Amino acid sequence: MKTPSRGFSAACILLCVSALTVQTVTAQPLRELAAKRGVLYGAAVGAAFWKPDSSYRDLLARECNVIVAENEMKFDLIEPERGRFNWTRADDLVAFAERNGMKVRGHNLVWHAQSDWASKLNAGRDEMIAVMRAHILAVAGRYRGKILEWDVVNEAIDDGDDYLRDTFWRKAIGDDYIDLAFKFAHEADPHALLFYNDYGGEGMNTKSDKIYRLVKDMLARGVPLHGVGIQCHFVAGEIDTAGIDTNIKRLAALGLKVSVTELDIRLKLPADGAMLARQGEEYRALMNVFLKNPTCCTAFLTWGITDTYSWIPQFFKGYGAALPFDENNALKPAGKGLRDALSAAVPDGK
Ligand code: G3I
Repeated sequence: MKTPSRGFSAACILLCVSALTVQTVTAQPLRELAAKRGVLYGAAVGAAFWKPDSSYRDLLARECNVIVAENEMKFDLIEPERGRFNWTRADDLVAFAERNGMKVRGHNLVWHAQSDWASKLNAGRDEMIAVMRAHILAVAGRYRGKILEWDVVNEAIDDGDDYLRDTFWRKAIGDDYIDLAFKFAHEADPHALLFYNDYGGEGMNTKSDKIYRLVKDMLARGVPLHGVGIQCHFVAGEIDTAGIDTNIKRLAALGLKVSVTELDIRLKLPADGAMLARQGEEYRALMNVFLKNPTCCTAFLTWGITDTYSWIPQFFKGYGAALPFDENNALKPAGKGLRDALSAAVPDGK
């Protein structure tokens, strides 16, 4: 055999090996890449989980090392009538997570929405405190030791000029309903990390200033609070990553963790290649901000995983394509953005 063909074979082998390596890297699930960086990637699990088609469950199991119930742990779904609990679906999700080596975020214990019967009670302070305490002790108690982070209070800040949203909980109990919820959650599950979760206060703005004030004051009062969830329901082209970085850093300076709890970036439909590519850049930039703050940021969740199942088209007519995987469970540029950020060289400070 002539020497040139030997060189040629060696080059071929090298090419094949690197092609294989590239393929292995690009085919690596997000959860594995996240684990290598010491963080969690996951998604909200919707009602499609209980459909006979298993491809959705397979996708979640392959890509996520943390999940959260999109609805199934919320007040009305888990306690449909006072004192009557429906654990079936929440139990299913926790068992699924355990089988697949995933962590679970709990969402949520106290909110003004999806709490129909409680909102209509018209009870006084003591009775509403009793309702809240019984709910939290039952729910957080049942999953004691199994929940990484609980969204204890969700969306308590007012969107307008007021400080606190005037929810039925606040009207009945007073401003201290928030502190009480955290105390009850800590009583129910002393090891869970307890979060305040909200939207619209991701970057530096009036709402995030109010969230900052809320959590700083709670810490000063000795309330068992461990983190802030920044939901991150974004519209493509309107994301201030520098502001998000600044906000994360000021929360971290209080000693709090910050999780990305509900990320999606909605596009006006139909989405073309350029829009999807730009959305991919935005996903990548957000993951990079998250990875730049390793001491406080460990859980990064999208609100759904595939565009087949997303709350966006129902709530924002004409919008969609907001998630990392497409209707065929294939990785979109958005998912590639996450993957590229997670696979990239470790940034300064990590
Ligand atoms: O449970 C009923 C069911 O009985 C009925 O057949 C069906 C018919 O439409 O509706 C079901 O209720 C729906 C519920 O989700 C459970 O699937 C409601 O219509 C629907 O409005 C509700 O939407 C959820 C929404 O929260 C409620 O505010 C979305 O799926 C969920 O993605 C969304 O999640 C919130 C987070 O919890 C907090 N942050 C914002 C985020 C997006 O709004």
